[in-house]
Amino acid sequence: MNRGILRCVGCTLLAVLAVLLTDVCSAEQGLDELKLLAITVATDETDGYKRFMRSAKVNNIDVKVLGMGEEWRGGDMRNPGGGHKINILKKETELHRNESNLVLMFVDSYDLILLADPQEFLKKFLEFNANMVFSAEGFCWPDRGLKDQYPEVSHGKKYLCSGGFIGYALTFHQVVADHAIEDVEDDQLYYTKIFLDKQKRDKLKLKLDNKAEIFMNLNGAQDEVEIKFSGDKAWLVNKEYNTQPLVAHGNGPSKLFLNYLDNYLPDKWNFKDGCTACSEDTLSLENLKKEEYPKILMGLFIEKPTPFIPEFLTRMMQLDYPKKRIDILVHNTIPYHKPQIGDWLTDEIKDQFNSVTVLQPEDNVNEYQARNHAVEMCKEKSCDYLFSVDGSVVLTNKDTLKILIKQNRPVLTPVISKHGKLWSNFWGALGDDGYYLRSRDYLAIVQKQRKGVWNSPFITNIYLIQKEVLKQMQGSFGPSTLDPDMAMCKYFRDHGIFMYATNLHEFGRLLETENYNTNHLHNDCGRSLITECPSSNDWDEKYIHENYSQNMNLSIPLAEPCPDVYWFPIVTDTFAMHLVEEMENLGDWSGGRHEDKRLSGGYENVPTDDIHMNQVGYERHWLHFLKEYIVPVNTRLYPGYHSEARSIMNFVVKYDPNRQYYLRPHHDSSTYTINIALTDQASIMEAGAAGFCGITAK
Ligand SMILES: *[C@@H]1O[C@H](CO)[C@@H](O)[C@H](O)[C@H]1NC(C)=O
Ligand SMILES: *[C@@H]1O[C@H](CO)[C@@H](O)[C@H](O)[C@H]1NC(C)=O
Ligand SMILES: *[C@@H]1O[C@H](CO)[C@@H](O)[C@H](O)[C@H]1NC(C)=O
Repeated sequence: MNRGILRCVGCTLLAVLAVLLTDVCSAEQGLDELKLLAITVATDETDGYKRFMRSAKVNNIDVKVLGMGEEWRGGDMRNPGGGHKINILKKETELHRNESNLVLMFVDSYDLILLADPQEFLKKFLEFNANMVFSAEGFCWPDRGLKDQYPEVSHGKKYLCSGGFIGYALTFHQVVADHAIEDVEDDQLYYTKIFLDKQKRDKLKLKLDNKAEIFMNLNGAQDEVEIKFSGDKAWLVNKEYNTQPLVAHGNGPSKLFLNYLDNYLPDKWNFKDGCTACSEDTLSLENLKKEEYPKILMGLFIEKPTPFIPEFLTRMMQLDYPKKRIDILVHNTIPYHKPQIGDWLTDEIKDQFNSVTVLQPEDNVNEYQARNHAVEMCKEKSCDYLFSVDGSVVLTNKDTLKILIKQNRPVLTPVISKHGKLWSNFWGALGDDGYYLRSRDYLAIVQKQRKGVWNSPFITNIYLIQKEVLKQMQGSFGPSTLDPDMAMCKYFRDHGIFMYATNLHEFGRLLETENYNTNHLHNDCGRSLITECPSSNDWDEKYIHENYSQNMNLSIPLAEPCPDVYWFPIVTDTFAMHLVEEMENLGDWSGGRHEDKRLSGGYENVPTDDIHMNQVGYERHWLHFLKEYIVPVNTRLYPGYHSEARSIMNFVVKYDPNRQYYLRPHHDSSTYTINIALTDQASIMEAGAAGFCGITAK
């Protein structure tokens, strides 16, 4: 032991009397002469390993990695084992045992991040006045029977955890070389036995980090910690012990919580600069010729009745990406959507893309099989990425595919949510049951108060998977008792593959499919054509006239062809066409007779050849439509008159000279009437005309 350290030990004893002195002393003396070397044992470059190495790099910590590429003989990491680690360490520390100014720190790497620079580590270590310090946890593992042999601790964690320890090189070597251990024996038990031997503990000056001064083991202790932010800084605190841990270790089931911390630490996200790590390791597509673009397998999955499938397919075709570099696989299990896909699949589409494969309901391929198939197909075609998108995704950003590629993450989803709702396609946390749990930052991410690229335990609906990940995937979607997307995410979690969700850009939204059924001929949005959810962007886009909003603009006069008759844009041609088709599909036209069983009196004075809205199940929807789209225009035209849009008779009339060639002029007994011409002008002229006050409708 060198002079500096000895002096410092004395100084630490004095600290009882003078706290200030301690700081000055340990900072000035031992620190300068000491060196820190972190050692870890890792056999694969997992995502967790890469994260660990990044955390070391940003903190300027030297790391020696042992075992890389070696066959792991220490058993499954979840069960006892790990003696192999000690045997590897024994060889390595033999080389360093005489370096008296060297402090060695062993840390796990797959589930651990370093949060401070060497100075901080050495300073905290010196304050322990020990030769070696082990991290501590609240569980006595793997041998609970040893509980009572542990020294009492008044406040803090009592039991040794071998996921992290720090000590002078010599002591370090003495500990790992203390006695022989088989590769498959448990390493934590090995260290525990040495620590519980009071004679050895005192002689080697071994201590436990009871209050997470250095090592924070998160298992069972997640509630103790939180991330603090100030300006461009973010750091971890332990509220229970009022400490600032330098290492975060996601031991046991706390791995996912570590992933949450990983979104911010170290130096990844802060309130001043936002996501500083988002620009690390990104790819560029600039300067690539079209034929050099990465090869994509685009899997489009329609697994349940979904509104706006034609629009979905069109939008996917409009993504900005060289189409010849894309192979398409469409999987559809819903008979209703089959003709829509047929309409879309023209020769032109087939020619534009490298290949198009369609699996329809009669192919009898279920969802998990289709998703597994997409993975295998991607591998067969030597693709670079699998881009999987469900029919319920409304992708409005044409650059989405490029953005996802450039971000360069193993598995990446663009964050989208249902219109005006918090329901989105990623989860921030996972409950013990494997299902949704709201993370501390979920709302801030969905609402985009925090923007970044977020390590998430569950993603769905749309994602890009890199080929290195695809290689590891086999039957990842099922068969399983879980839904295919749940099964996939569990597969990734179990294999240490990180999934990310980016909300750095606007990408689009998720459709509501919950109450969607296909009882009608046209079913887009909610239940039907005239829907329970108008004012959703999707419905408006498809069915409301693009100039509708001008009707409320007071500086644009509304056409008034004759007194108190106003003429304004309201719905799209598609709306008119679909409503007509819907009525024809039912075909139950009344025939224009005076006797009408649908009416309470059973008699109609001026009968038309019509179908009532309630006959096709649209009554409720139509009234909603009136409130939502007609009342605002009404309010503009008749200020001060409030219309509740109550209406007892709503119908579609068929004017067909072969069925009813004449209807005498008449007044409706209503405050006002809404007429929408559902056929185009030419047909109206041909069929004759309906008009107002002697003026023919054009
Ligand atoms: C460390 O010192 C011991 C005793 O002086 C010596 O036997 C050993 O070879 C030294 N080891 C190294 C790696 O220098
Ligand atoms: C909407 O208004 C613009 C400008 O007045 C016009 O050019 C356009 O044709 C209108 N759109 C439709 C569908 O009528
Ligand atoms: C209303 O119309 C005028 C004239 O076309 C236009 O300048 C103005 O921006 C419109 N106002 C709104 C709120 O759209």
